[in-house]
Amino acid sequence: MNDTVHQLRCTGCALVVAQRAARSNFRCAACGDLFEVEYPAWSANAGSSQAPSLVTGNGHHGAVGAVAAAVAAEVAAPAQPRTWMPNASALRWLWKERRHSAVSVDQSGVWRFRELLPILEFPNDAVTLREGNTPLYGMPRCAQAAGMERLLAKHQGMNPTGSFKDTGMTAALSVARELGFEWVACASTGNTSAAMAAYAARAGMRCLVLIPEGKIAWGKLSQAMDYGALTCQLRTDFDGCVKVLAEIVERYPIYLLNSVNPYRLEGQKTPALEIAEELEWNVPDHVIVPGGNLANCSALGKGFQEMKRLGLTTAMPRISVIQAQGANPLYSMMASGKETLTPVHADTRATAIRIGNPASWRKAARILRQTNGYCEQVSEAEIAIAKAEIGREGIGCEPASAVTLAGLKKLVADGRVKKTENVVLLLTGHTLKDSEYTIDFHRGALLKDAESRGCENAMAALRSEMPVLDASVEAVLRELEAEVRG
Ligand code: F0G
Repeated sequence: MNDTVHQLRCTGCALVVAQRAARSNFRCAACGDLFEVEYPAWSANAGSSQAPSLVTGNGHHGAVGAVAAAVAAEVAAPAQPRTWMPNASALRWLWKERRHSAVSVDQSGVWRFRELLPILEFPNDAVTLREGNTPLYGMPRCAQAAGMERLLAKHQGMNPTGSFKDTGMTAALSVARELGFEWVACASTGNTSAAMAAYAARAGMRCLVLIPEGKIAWGKLSQAMDYGALTCQLRTDFDGCVKVLAEIVERYPIYLLNSVNPYRLEGQKTPALEIAEELEWNVPDHVIVPGGNLANCSALGKGFQEMKRLGLTTAMPRISVIQAQGANPLYSMMASGKETLTPVHADTRATAIRIGNPASWRKAARILRQTNGYCEQVSEAEIAIAKAEIGREGIGCEPASAVTLAGLKKLVADGRVKKTENVVLLLTGHTLKDSEYTIDFHRGALLKDAESRGCENAMAALRSEMPVLDASVEAVLRELEAEVRG
């Protein structure tokens, strides 16, 4: 654990603690709020802190050759730490160069950027599945559906376990291993548990998963089981699982890997770096993120803020959060102008974001304020239509990810987003995570009549046929001709 380089700052009362002083629930002992990782040499708030050295642990820099190692040493060893900033051009060059390396941490889209997350004593030993380096797709049909001139989607579902959680898991689980933990744990709506189970298996560690019984998609449950997790289905919802786990981590030496763990967010900030890199170190006007436990929006915000602070970029995007109408506590809080979040009873078919009492709502509200972002809510029918449209791009995503497109349509419709803006949707999960949802949609069995009222035609137009036919050429040709005639 590289304590000399980073520390934890409470996002509520600004208390600074060393990593080893953090409590097992990652809540501030003084005010109960959550921490974020800061690097005293260059983080935004870190004026008062002692100047550290940025030399990373064992001095390994991966196999990018002697020149790259020299650049890495240059960017990592400030002559005057207090005023030192990494050299932006050197970093850009180094990160690009690592793409050609055969070393596993260089191939990772998280650890490739390790100068911006120096949290490990031995970064070359990070537990990695070559996460990150995900595609930024053009979405011409979705752009048209939303009334935009163009639209991009950063597909975090193209990670090793099929969701954005991998980028955070490689970071936090590697920290757990360096700290000597044998067991890790999470409460989950499915994706965190799949990612944690995979990374724990890679590391030879044991893991405990708490999931709400019957309320997670089969694809995710099957992953946790396959990777060997102790998977307990609790007769409660996600929020109930969080409560039980909070007590377990107090009573048992087990490392909590939910997104209250600030190291998760260090990994989850790297898609922001990838987006900027792909846009030749420009940032989009607007990034739109689904909101569940509400950590990911602030992770991306941190990534964009740190890049700007380091001179890698010159602007900040607006960051907006979209929630499902049935799980909308942040939307309700912001719409009512309240300062405090009131938990709701969550219910949505987008099970990944079926969360009524999100842990990181303060962090989310802060990043929305800082970037002038919006919080919107979308109905079950709007989610289903948007998901089918993303499918028609040949890309697909899980239902929770589709809230981004559904939300964008609303923001465009009332003029909050202009059609000329550069918008990036963050697609958080792979379409195969929840194939039951997809099949129910195409069969017309997903929504109740009341839920689809007014959207019947839009949905019918997106439904794919699945006829059962006799095994005859004529029968198939009849279908084909009917389809061609429209
Ligand atoms: N999209 C997907 C596919 C998710 O799995 C989640 C969260 C989110 C969006 C929301 O992200 O919580 O940072 O606001 N899934 C968690 C889990 C809760 O347990 O897998 P957030």
